Amino acid sequence: MLRLRRLNFYSIFFAFGVSVLIILAASRYIGNTNYHQSSESRRNIIIRNYLKIEDGEKNSPQPLPTNPDDGSPNIEIILEKSRSKVKFDLTNYNFYTSGAQKLEDLLLESGGRPIRSLIVSAWRSGSTFLGEILNAMPGNFYHYEPLMHFDKVQIRAPPYSEKALSTIKSMFNCNFNDMDEYFEYGKVHAVQYSHNSRPWDHCKYKKELCLDPDFTSKYCKLFPFHSMKVVRFRLRLVQELLDDKQLNLNVVLLIRDPRGVMQSRQHHDWCLRAPDCWRPELVCADMISDYLTAGRLLKQYPGRLMVLRYEDLALNPNNTAHRLLNFLKLSPTPSFEEFLHSHTTVEVGGAFSTFRVSREVPFRWKNILNFSYVEEIQMVCKYAMNLWGYRMAHNASHLASKEFNPLDQFKVPQ
Ligand SMILES: *[C@@H]1O[C@H](CO)[C@@H](O)[C@H](O)[C@H]1NC(C)=O
Ligand SMILES: *[C@@H]1O[C@H](CO)[C@@H](O)[C@H](O)[C@H]1NC(C)=O
Ligand SMILES: *[C@@H]1O[C@H](CO)[C@@H](O)[C@H](O)[C@H]1NC(C)=O
Repeated sequence: MLRLRRLNFYSIFFAFGVSVLIILAASRYIGNTNYHQSSESRRNIIIRNYLKIEDGEKNSPQPLPTNPDDGSPNIEIILEKSRSKVKFDLTNYNFYTSGAQKLEDLLLESGGRPIRSLIVSAWRSGSTFLGEILNAMPGNFYHYEPLMHFDKVQIRAPPYSEKALSTIKSMFNCNFNDMDEYFEYGKVHAVQYSHNSRPWDHCKYKKELCLDPDFTSKYCKLFPFHSMKVVRFRLRLVQELLDDKQLNLNVVLLIRDPRGVMQSRQHHDWCLRAPDCWRPELVCADMISDYLTAGRLLKQYPGRLMVLRYEDLALNPNNTAHRLLNFLKLSPTPSFEEFLHSHTTVEVGGAFSTFRVSREVPFRWKNILNFSYVEEIQMVCKYAMNLWGYRMAHNASHLASKEFNPLDQFKVPQ
């Protein structure tokens, strides 16, 4: 009896000891994976922050924040403050670069003509990153995705194109009257305004400002530089905008490898519901059309169109950003250089520099897509990829190999 009890005691003691060991080992193991996970997720956050390819198209509507103190805003004071701030931020700006002698020459408010630029791209092609680079210029007003209320479609021709063109023109002219659909959409999608950092500073707490066409029109006219980006508007439609002498618009076409595009669009419900988004043959037909249009526009409107690949931007952000400013006749300011520096050369936890991160981001699809899907895309995109200088993966092992460099040279006919 006693022996039995003692045996029981020992076996319980033994079992307890084993459990402790298991728990210790497990916690060590979990600790380790946590460590890996956290450095991995930190890296992902950095990638998201510094090389954004988000297009702000989450399906769930984000309501505008409401004003915590509820005082009604004094519009005249806001306008006056912002007028002074633009002036101050551009105190040492070289206006001759921008073909002007003084700030007022570029302000609609004083009867001037702003420097206007339009980024034409497609979903998940790096346009958010490029848009933010441009918006880092002081004195910039950023018309972010004015065509979101058209929903998830590519606009290629009438009838949508007429409405889209008139929206774009009105906004570049800071005329926000008669834009009910735009403001309706913005009521429940703050993303339509939040990228436009200058007015957003005022309306993040006073949402009525961003929803007020009169305020928006007046505020918009205080800025010498106007940028816009669109992901659902094909290049062939910009001819009408280039023809508008008063707009004097410059256009940037931003293209990305369709395999990277398709990988980045995976797992987005909204995309799966829109053929223009998930069907690679439509994506690549647009790439061909954009290529041919680019060649024609470069001849017809010399110096008014710049063509860029996202991969080249990611591999060489500093040079590309300076080339972009040069093309737009903008002179880089210290605050612009500062933005570029902090967003493209930051050390990440010692292990990865963003330079390395940004080199990897555009090619992440190589490790994520399986070869059968890559082959499916390549089959319908062969011509488009050839035009834009993207190399084929020949088989699964080729795709996985280090030797496979998807990027080749490309040339737009001029
Ligand atoms: C970025 O490029 C500009 C112009 O090409 C150059 O003056 C500047 O030194 C570069 N900055 C960095 C951090 O390489
Ligand atoms: C390859 O990827 C596609 C798209 O993600 C998926 O639908 C398919 O099931 C995958 N095929 C294999 C063999 O894993
Ligand atoms: C895969 O493609 C590479 C590059 O074209 C080629 O050298 C290799 O022989 C191919 N492998 C197979 C298994 O077909």
